Amino acid sequence: MRILVTGGAGFIGSHLVRRLLKNGYERVVNLDALRYSGNLENLADVVGDRRYAFVHGDICDADMVATVLREHRVEAVINCAAETHVDRSILEPCGFTRTDVVGTAVLLEAARSAGVRRFLQVSTDEVYGSIETGTSKESDPLAPRSPYAASKAGADLFALSYWTTYRFPVLITRGSNTYGPNQYPEKFIPLFVTNAIDDEPLPLYGDGRHRRDWLSVFDHCAGIEHVLRHGEPGSVYNIGAGNERENRTVAEAILAHLGRPTSLIRFVQDRPGHDRRYAVDCARLRAIGWAPAVPFESGLAETVEWYRKHEPWWRKIKTGEFRDYYERAYGARLRDGVSKA
Ligand code: DAU
Repeated sequence: MRILVTGGAGFIGSHLVRRLLKNGYERVVNLDALRYSGNLENLADVVGDRRYAFVHGDICDADMVATVLREHRVEAVINCAAETHVDRSILEPCGFTRTDVVGTAVLLEAARSAGVRRFLQVSTDEVYGSIETGTSKESDPLAPRSPYAASKAGADLFALSYWTTYRFPVLITRGSNTYGPNQYPEKFIPLFVTNAIDDEPLPLYGDGRHRRDWLSVFDHCAGIEHVLRHGEPGSVYNIGAGNERENRTVAEAILAHLGRPTSLIRFVQDRPGHDRRYAVDCARLRAIGWAPAVPFESGLAETVEWYRKHEPWWRKIKTGEFRDYYERAYGARLRDGVSKA
């Protein structure tokens, strides 16, 4: 199959590109706008592969997308391109609609016009909103609570409308919190690992008892590929690993791996509208043959090790645009602090 991966220079996208090449796909085209979290260094090892092509461009550019689909005779699209960070969506909500909603709509229409045979939209479990008990099923109503989650929910609905209206073969995956090498250090695990390496405080929101289901990026990409190959058009598939942990437990595990004291944890003002818990029911995906393979404890240990061994990769990021963002998002919080709940 000849595949276009959008956002292929990002975290999940780059692991997916590498996986598809390893699994023998005929052509893998990476279309990426190289915004702040897109990084071609993530794919330095595949550049010599003749089946791989990189195109620098924005998924909102309909003409360019149409040209890429035509020139590379693309048969399947996997849309990983997105603004993904909840805290940034709280600071600048409107920008998220452009890439996440408009970009997805442009891509869908271009892919439909080009006769693409499968379109997989990479979504998130955040579209279900916070769930206090039990697990979210694919048929549950969407109840997004952050601008990020709302923009992803909008994209999901747009994609599903293409199946209902045109019978265009869309598939949607809703993955849980993903971790692993090459994740931009604004996200919880890489932020805490890199701060801990530098003996900087780890800013834990609220009481630190919010729960997430941690999914290795390798398992997430395996799930995406599985759905691409075996999923039912017009269907949604949750991807989660059942590794539900409280944030403070994960923070403590990171510190233990690095031999740093728990006193580095700093309880700070909570994220507005902070979802308490996500958990997904993955029976539908398991029924077609996927299962996670990476235990959280070893996956986290290997991730911490990766950041320890790849300091140049993340130091370059943390000294750039990231510094301004960190000050905006954390400056006052860290100066004020809050008492431990
Ligand atoms: O559930 C899937 C989603 O997971 C993805 O769709 C999103 O793109 C991804 O960002 C992630 O969303 P979260 O908001 O859950 O991830 P984040 O890494 O930002 O935060 C994880 C948890 O850690 C959450 O409860 C907030 C908390 N946290 C996060 C940061 C960055 C802190 O306590 N302190 C922090 O500094």
